[in-house]
Amino acid sequence: MTPASTPSRSKRWFAHADGKPAWPHRVFMNKEGFPPDEFDGRPIVGICNSWSELTPCNLHLRRLAESVKRGVFEAGGLPVEFPTMSLGETLMRPTTMFYRNLMSMDVEESIRGNPIDGVVLLAGCDKTTPAQLMGAASVDLPAIMVTGGPMLNVTFRGEIVGSGTDLWRFQDEVKAGRMSPAEWDELELAFARSTGHCNTMGTASTMASVAEALGMTLAGNAAIPAVDSRRYALAQRSGRRIVELIREGVRPSHVMTRQAFENAIRVNVAIGGSTNAVVHLLALAGRVGVPLDLEDFDRIGRDVPLLVNLKPSGAYLMEEFFAAGGVPAVVRELGDLLHDGPATVSGVSLVAGSAEAACWNREVIRERAQPLLAEGAGIAVLRGNLAPNGAVIKPSAATPALMRHHGRAVVFEDIDDYLARIDDPALDVDADCVLVLKGAGPQGYPGMPEVGNFPLPRKLIAAGVKDMVRISDARMSGTAYGTVVLHVAPESAAGGPLAFVRDGDAIELDVPERRLELGVGDAELRSRAATRAAITRNGTSGGGYTELYRRHVMQADRGADFDFLVGCRGEAPVR
Ligand code: FES
Repeated sequence: MTPASTPSRSKRWFAHADGKPAWPHRVFMNKEGFPPDEFDGRPIVGICNSWSELTPCNLHLRRLAESVKRGVFEAGGLPVEFPTMSLGETLMRPTTMFYRNLMSMDVEESIRGNPIDGVVLLAGCDKTTPAQLMGAASVDLPAIMVTGGPMLNVTFRGEIVGSGTDLWRFQDEVKAGRMSPAEWDELELAFARSTGHCNTMGTASTMASVAEALGMTLAGNAAIPAVDSRRYALAQRSGRRIVELIREGVRPSHVMTRQAFENAIRVNVAIGGSTNAVVHLLALAGRVGVPLDLEDFDRIGRDVPLLVNLKPSGAYLMEEFFAAGGVPAVVRELGDLLHDGPATVSGVSLVAGSAEAACWNREVIRERAQPLLAEGAGIAVLRGNLAPNGAVIKPSAATPALMRHHGRAVVFEDIDDYLARIDDPALDVDADCVLVLKGAGPQGYPGMPEVGNFPLPRKLIAAGVKDMVRISDARMSGTAYGTVVLHVAPESAAGGPLAFVRDGDAIELDVPERRLELGVGDAELRSRAATRAAITRNGTSGGGYTELYRRHVMQADRGADFDFLVGCRGEAPVR
């Protein structure tokens, strides 16, 4: 850790500490109306804000920043808020994942290039949380995160419905003719009634919980509803705490250790978290320099029970999770399954910080002795000739009867091919088939969209089919469910075996044995590879960022980060 006596970083700008004249920096900050003694060496705290009117889940983060500022002032620091790129999950095309790395670079360089001693990260919607953590990890200045919190529960016709999860269900109801367009319109109006991120244990709730388990937020942060006054109190306390972290010299690399990642993986299983946590944690570990691979998610999470009864794996929403005790109650329940270290941003370990946490509703947060799922609740990592570098499935969101399944492949070459044919009455498909989607990986789409839980053929839904085995190189929304094999690596566009699957091929999925096999011999696969035409890519390169992305994005088993961003580069600006 940096000794407390080391001159503050911001002094290099404001106190002539690195030999460059300081007055131009001070004089232009005077436009903000600061008195001359404001730059007397007190810690300067950046508030990195992903607020945007194009990211409705983060709409309240300006107000949250005001609470952070109060805390920073109270502790003797000077807060300076700055914007970065934001990623609105429901609006951005081709997909927010395409921009996660770009936002992380914006966060990284905005921190590194400015006269700040530490940073408070304000995130919320799905990708904004990992992007900020990745950027802050690359700079490794003291940092603390405050997430925006989930939106309020939604009641529709007497039923509590959750973001995404119930939308997918109602979408199938409309497709099957069991829900009218008028009812669908009514649902649309009701579905997002407050600020905050999705209220299921989707990716946003998952990443907020994972950030807490990693130790990068104060205890209890993840579940407090966006509109609850206690979130603003926590933001104020976080503002106070970042000033102490700066004085103590605590950096993200001190907090996000291998043990912290293992804790995060275990908590993610216990909460029934999103498969997206896999790609984000792999990328984040790469930034901070912690060795972590795909197999770790299966091995470390295998003996962890599912404790949290939230959609899509369970029945409740984040509001109930908060009322039941949130992440601290889960941590306390996991007990000796977690490492009692390192210290989180609060100054004590995750376990010690949750030692007194109460659980107020055992239906929502189960005891370890009575879990929702005793084992196999985590991410299962599959291998086989169809996924030599791995693929993932979330058993707790899948159909138990399909965990071992043999089926005939029905293949879609890309998402356009899927959209054109899936509802064709003449499509040769039955409930035992395995639906295969290509061209949806990091390079292929590009950006690895959340289409892995692609809907079933209309005629099968109408016949009452609820689930089928689906395989792709895509991701799926954390709010989604189904027997869905995701993140197949290498992806089809990178020449992985997925590219060579044809209609009628036999596919075997065996989750208990962690196998995913294509019933095609090596010789035949080599022959198909040799005769294959150009690798499928949607659209044209377009140059610019798209070209940079396609050239440098790594595969899903490496977190889909850019190869040149791996490793912590530290705080020093270029000059
Ligand atoms: Fe923002 Fe779900 S759309 S968290």
